[in-house]
Amino acid sequence: MATCKLLPYVCPKWAQQLHHVPKYQIKLANPGTPIHKWSLPGVPSKFEVSIKRDDMTGSTLSGNKVRKLEFLMADAVARKCGHVITCGGVQSNHCRATAVAARQLHLHPHLLLRTDTQDPAEIGVEGNLFLDRLCSAEIYVVPKKCPYETELKPRMEKLANILKEKTGEDVYLVPVGGSNSVGLFGYITVFEEMISQGLFDQFDDVVFACGSGGTAAGLAISNHLTGSHIKCHAIIVCDDKAYFTDHINQTLCDVGLDTVHCQDILDIIEGHKGRGYGLSTEDELEFIMKVSQQTGIMLDPVYSGKAARGLVEELCNNPDRFQGNRILFIHTGGVFGMYDGRLNSVVKAETKGLVRKWPTLNSFPD
Ligand SMILES: Cc1ncc(COP(=O)(O)O)c(C=O)c1O
Repeated sequence: MATCKLLPYVCPKWAQQLHHVPKYQIKLANPGTPIHKWSLPGVPSKFEVSIKRDDMTGSTLSGNKVRKLEFLMADAVARKCGHVITCGGVQSNHCRATAVAARQLHLHPHLLLRTDTQDPAEIGVEGNLFLDRLCSAEIYVVPKKCPYETELKPRMEKLANILKEKTGEDVYLVPVGGSNSVGLFGYITVFEEMISQGLFDQFDDVVFACGSGGTAAGLAISNHLTGSHIKCHAIIVCDDKAYFTDHINQTLCDVGLDTVHCQDILDIIEGHKGRGYGLSTEDELEFIMKVSQQTGIMLDPVYSGKAARGLVEELCNNPDRFQGNRILFIHTGGVFGMYDGRLNSVVKAETKGLVRKWPTLNSFPD
């Protein structure tokens, strides 16, 4: 549970040259998430895969988003805001984590959620939405195709003006995915944590899902600033390589690294988003089931599932893309995305024979 306490942020020495180093952090995540070996099915034998369990940063407040929110919410509290507004897909982990963090810090959460379902009565209570609604976030249903810069951001600004006028309280805007130069420090913190966990000695490559670019930017910038020889690979689950290259180059400029280019510090991997953002294929869902059955690690269908499957495909088809054979996959969370119903039919089919009737002590099923 967040303590609401603004702690002075102690930036790692190697990142102190960056512009806009935050002044404060609020502890929201359980840090020091474990790293362990992972027998991910389908990995060629010459590679050894480990996993960093950043899905274990918390419970309802978990995954990679909480790392960024430690800085974004601290900024909101330091500015004495009464409301926080953010946006994302209808099953956004980022929106759910923002709503939960806001309630813990006594701020009022407002979420603009993109969906095809335009009737508010029809949006449901599954997965992340269940938690959004359980903590009574104010939800504004917006068309799924709304682009961020030209549609969502202006709506968030408009809502901020309306709230300020109505309540007199200041309003904090969190960009899509929490990916700006404030949220960036979330994964700078994680990089420092991984150094203390033996990153440089034990791994050659780090691989993770990329959805709005903040995790990728934090890790790639840290890797660059520490002069490390790790190679960072971002597996994209939406948009395209050009979009993320631009976004990360912009972040590099914002923090004063204008002579550094995204393409020199990050390998952006395309080709694994399947039918598109938030959409699943049968093969992807079966992969998630197989990984759960064989390793006990649960992957979500939107981010970690596609990234882990993409990792296996790249290791099989493009092994030279990796600079060594010791791979660290960062599990970025998304557990509540597993409860949106799409995995139900695969789970039912795969476990049909495992559910048996045992009505009395002496009638043990055959
Ligand atoms: C579970 C999960 N993993 C990965 C990502 C991608 O992280 P980022 O938005 O920093 O690229 C997100 C959000 O977009 C997420 O919710």
